[in-house]
Amino acid sequence: MIDFINKLKKNSYVIDQFLDKHLPIGDSLNSKLFEAMRYSSINSGKKIRAFLVIESGKFLGSINNQEISKSKYDELVVVASAIEAIHTYSLIHDDLPAMDNSSTRRGKPSNHVKYDMHTAILAGDALLSWAFQIISDQNLIKDSMQRSEICFALAKAIGPYGMVGGQQADMDLNNKSSLSLDEIEWIQSHKTGVLISSCSHVASILLNVNDKQRDKIISYASNIGLAFQIADDLLDKDGDETVMGKPIKQDDKNETPNFVTILGRDKATKRALEASNSAISTIENFGYDIENLVSLAKYTVNRNH
Ligand code: IPE
Ligand code: IPE
Ligand code: MG
Ligand code: MG
Ligand code: MG
Repeated sequence: MIDFINKLKKNSYVIDQFLDKHLPIGDSLNSKLFEAMRYSSINSGKKIRAFLVIESGKFLGSINNQEISKSKYDELVVVASAIEAIHTYSLIHDDLPAMDNSSTRRGKPSNHVKYDMHTAILAGDALLSWAFQIISDQNLIKDSMQRSEICFALAKAIGPYGMVGGQQADMDLNNKSSLSLDEIEWIQSHKTGVLISSCSHVASILLNVNDKQRDKIISYASNIGLAFQIADDLLDKDGDETVMGKPIKQDDKNETPNFVTILGRDKATKRALEASNSAISTIENFGYDIENLVSLAKYTVNRNH
């Protein structure tokens, strides 16, 4: 586990360096906006989505006997950074009083507490747009077809058909809505799962792999997404606020239904473990170096933040 955490940190450092270099400090009337974008994204968060992009790329390269070139690795870093920017935007908005009303995030005041409401809304909007700016930059990703396929896959994953659609249902429904397990899974797969799956999808586009290999890695990632959200729901109930860097018991406070409210702790824990094991079994018969992806699947359910 310690070894894995170190790999995760090393990867986060690479992403932070990219963000620091490509997300300017700002030198004009919009400098507060840039400061707020940087505040929430740089040196913040576990960056497991970025790790998943890079490791999916390495895995797909290895099963095709392709060493990832420096230029291909750099392209994976661009897309991984864009996805972290999108994820950060979603969290800044998720914390707003109009949504979960959380005043801390990633161990510090949430964006709207540190700055103000309009800056948090705009910093989220700006991180989202900036993500698509860097993915479609021909100086950063060479192949025009790949740029456009990545933009399409990501836009579909995070918009009304995906993450934002899931957030809408998450906000509209409450514990009294007597949701079924299928409906909870629908919300989870939209609000969290699709962005996590898209990490592997975009790597498969950059590596230009066949459909079967793409589907395998996406199936791995969607199981990771499911396990990840159940773990998040369990941590919201029983986690340590100081370790997690965000308030706990938010779902109770906001009456947000989730896997734990529907299944109870024990069954939810079992379901998370099943999803993590399914993720591992999807990739294990490939016989290539799967150590980092296996560790990620285990970490997803064993993490304390
Ligand atoms: C938290 O995601 C929100 C969910 C979608 C469950 P993470 O647990 O990945 O948050 P950071 O990026 O590490 O802060
Ligand atoms: C957030 O889910 C999902 C998105 C931002 C898309 P949660 O509301 O459960 O995330 P936390 O618990 O605040 O990190
Ligand atoms: Mg929420
Ligand atoms: Mg929240
Ligand atoms: Mg949560």
